[in-house]
Amino acid sequence: MYTIIKNIDSLVTCAGSYRKIKDEMKDAKVIENGYVVIEGEKILEVGNGEGYSKYLKEQCNVIDGKGKTVTPGLVNPHTHVVYAGSREKELPLKLQKVSYIEILKNGGGILSTVRATREATVEELYEEAKKRMDLMLLHGTTTVESKSGYALDFHGEIKMLEANKKLNQNHPMDVVSTYLGAHAIPQEYKEDREGYIKLMKEEIIPYVVDNNLAEFIDCFCEEGVYTVEEAEDILTYGNSKGLKIKIHADEVESIGGAELAGKIKATSAEHLVAASDEGIKALADNGVVAVLLPCTSFYLMLKNFARGREMIEKGVPVALATDCNPGTSPTESMQQVMTFACFGMGMLPAEIINAMTINAACAINKEKTIGSIEEGKKADICIFNSKNLEYLIYHFGVNSIDKVIKDGKIVVE
Ligand code: NIG
Ligand code: FE
Repeated sequence: MYTIIKNIDSLVTCAGSYRKIKDEMKDAKVIENGYVVIEGEKILEVGNGEGYSKYLKEQCNVIDGKGKTVTPGLVNPHTHVVYAGSREKELPLKLQKVSYIEILKNGGGILSTVRATREATVEELYEEAKKRMDLMLLHGTTTVESKSGYALDFHGEIKMLEANKKLNQNHPMDVVSTYLGAHAIPQEYKEDREGYIKLMKEEIIPYVVDNNLAEFIDCFCEEGVYTVEEAEDILTYGNSKGLKIKIHADEVESIGGAELAGKIKATSAEHLVAASDEGIKALADNGVVAVLLPCTSFYLMLKNFARGREMIEKGVPVALATDCNPGTSPTESMQQVMTFACFGMGMLPAEIINAMTINAACAINKEKTIGSIEEGKKADICIFNSKNLEYLIYHFGVNSIDKVIKDGKIVVE
């Protein structure tokens, strides 16, 4: 049985190179009056005009794409979607200009989510995250990366990664799991940071690897959190055990996180609001994907967004994500990210959609199977109530999804 989407006003395929840089990012490979034929879980044929009609003899599910924009399913390559509790009580502090790192140093911020998450069971974490993932799917995300990092002890971190595994098995979305034990220094190790790093290296990472609980390792490399030297030690250790590298780099201060990402050949470096010129060059030279999180800049009320425009001009493959987390970006919507990427960072519609499909897939090492509408790829597809891509970005603040197709099945309509 085939599913055919026909007469599509604007079929945004994001086809071509799997790691788009510079001018490649400005071309979303749009087909006018396009069609897509899906067989089972995969894309069978993509074209324009009436080419789909030969499949109509068989039993088919036909969707009319008139007035619609069709894109690859959105890929969200940086989230902290598994957690307990919430942090709306910190809002007044933020408005009184108490900084994010100050709140953290006083035992709030990430550490307050750590207290709540340590108390939750795997089932509770699963149920809470599932609700957020349902919202992600409703807004067009079909693959999500999910980090641990809100328990910071052996059992709690494993519990978070078990929740990731269960979500991947039961939720329609695909979930890519990242071990982020180095998200903060746990309070009980405040005077013994080496002790916590030793615990991660000697006990937690080996367990994570042996039990196949994560594909990536990440570290919050930031002034007042993990130093560049500590990040290099933790990340290269994890990498030597088989985990691929992501890094929270230069989110608030420029301390050399982007330079480190280049040096250790990370798959992606994330945030990068304060990345230096040398850091940007290191990313471009080493093909490290820059995952930019403009909702976080907005929500932290930072003076600047990451220099997305400049990164693209300098040859960095740029991706976009929500950062969905209880402190700095409580949103599930990649459409919200579109708005800030455009109006905060000056990214063009084609750059934005490439950054949240094919380049985002690159940031989680899945570019061969998802991220573009091409024959043989997974049939993960969004149908938007927009006559073209520009309209989708121009019309903001609403959910423009008409349908979401995941693995060839309509999961939202
Ligand atoms: O990506 N920067 C570190 N981690 C998250 C925030 C986590 C939190 O505040 O709960 C981020 O912004
Ligand atoms: Fe983050």
